[in-house]
Amino acid sequence: MTLVPEGLPEQGLAADEIYRELDRRRIDPIRGHWSHSFRGPPDVQEVGRTAFLRFMADNGIFSVRVPYMQQVEQEVIAMCVSLFHPQPDSSGNFTSGGSESNYSALHAIREWAKEHRPQVRRPTIVAPYSAHGTFTKGCHYFGLELIRTPLGKDYRADVAAMAAAITPDTVALVGSAPCWPYGLFDPLPAISALATQHGLWMHVDACVGGYLSPFAEQLGLPLPEWDFRLPAVQSISADLHKLGYCPKPASTVLWRSRDLQRFHYVNPTDIPTGEYRTAGFAGSRNAGAIFAAWAVLRYLGRSGYLRLARQVLATKQRLSDGIRAIDGLEPVASDLLPLPFRATDVVLADVVGEMTRRGYILLGCKDPPLVDMPIDPAADDTVIETFLADLRESVAVARAAGTTRGELRY
Ligand SMILES: Cc1ncc(COP(=O)(O)O)c(C=O)c1O
Repeated sequence: MTLVPEGLPEQGLAADEIYRELDRRRIDPIRGHWSHSFRGPPDVQEVGRTAFLRFMADNGIFSVRVPYMQQVEQEVIAMCVSLFHPQPDSSGNFTSGGSESNYSALHAIREWAKEHRPQVRRPTIVAPYSAHGTFTKGCHYFGLELIRTPLGKDYRADVAAMAAAITPDTVALVGSAPCWPYGLFDPLPAISALATQHGLWMHVDACVGGYLSPFAEQLGLPLPEWDFRLPAVQSISADLHKLGYCPKPASTVLWRSRDLQRFHYVNPTDIPTGEYRTAGFAGSRNAGAIFAAWAVLRYLGRSGYLRLARQVLATKQRLSDGIRAIDGLEPVASDLLPLPFRATDVVLADVVGEMTRRGYILLGCKDPPLVDMPIDPAADDTVIETFLADLRESVAVARAAGTTRGELRY
């Protein structure tokens, strides 16, 4: 069967033909596992899928006013914010992903600055070099200026460099908990102190770690305080569709108070309908994702997330040991996730090239050359052992190629 790429065919296809074609396009579940999908174990995936399908045809645009949608979104937010040492009136919004959560924070910061820092002409955000690319995108979209500051020798934000970058136009500081690609927490207590000293909004990007860190901490992993325990933290982004194991698209942006959440909303009234109230940037959106998040959070509870956190950390250790055992590769220490690794005497881009040919989707980092491994509880023995065997063979292929340089791409 061939599908016509040029345009919509005149006649539709039978459903079973469609399903066959879809199956043909699926990625290999074993090698494709590492494709940054952050799946929960099969039972968790099943709960998410069932809830998603049940509400897939409903419209999440109504979460600000129709009771059954409003209630589910508020219950999701209440469960999420409870993990981050909230204030009594801390709140949040459900979004489509880490990008939208970070954009929401940047937008609210700009609106907050109009009210609280009216003398500022060009609102400026100071963020370390390692803060996610969504801050560059978001500042571009919202007409904010982003100043990226150099990292310390330990690849964490250099707080002195951030302090030196503050100008009278600075309105906010950003830190990561942890950052992608290094998996390191910035010195967030010190950034909070700096923000307090200058009366700045502090945003913490916990997109990767938000739903893992509270449980990793409980298991004794030494992490710095990063959430609303820090007095300057006004907003946090945390992705349910990463280590929250909820089906995509699902993320949260959490606000220290409802008074700050006010800056998130834009309610047009200059239109025939008289008003247009939505929960955020999106209009129509899939209610399935919100119900699926509710279902997964309720299914797992704190004890379920704790159990999966233990499993993720154990897998990280196993993968790290496996990579260390491969001559030519070396894992790089990270506080949480991802697990980065580097090459010692082969060209990493060639290793990645061979892995790509074998069906893997790996993300690279140029500075320094690293590969970042996501880890989730669906990585079973077969998935892990196949990966390590392919990696060992790919190093041999790269070494035989004998190239001396190559460039990694994200
Ligand atoms: C630290 C961090 N922030 C933000 C994002 C963007 O998240 P998303 O891809 O869900 O939009 C990512 C994605 O990996 C991330 O690692």
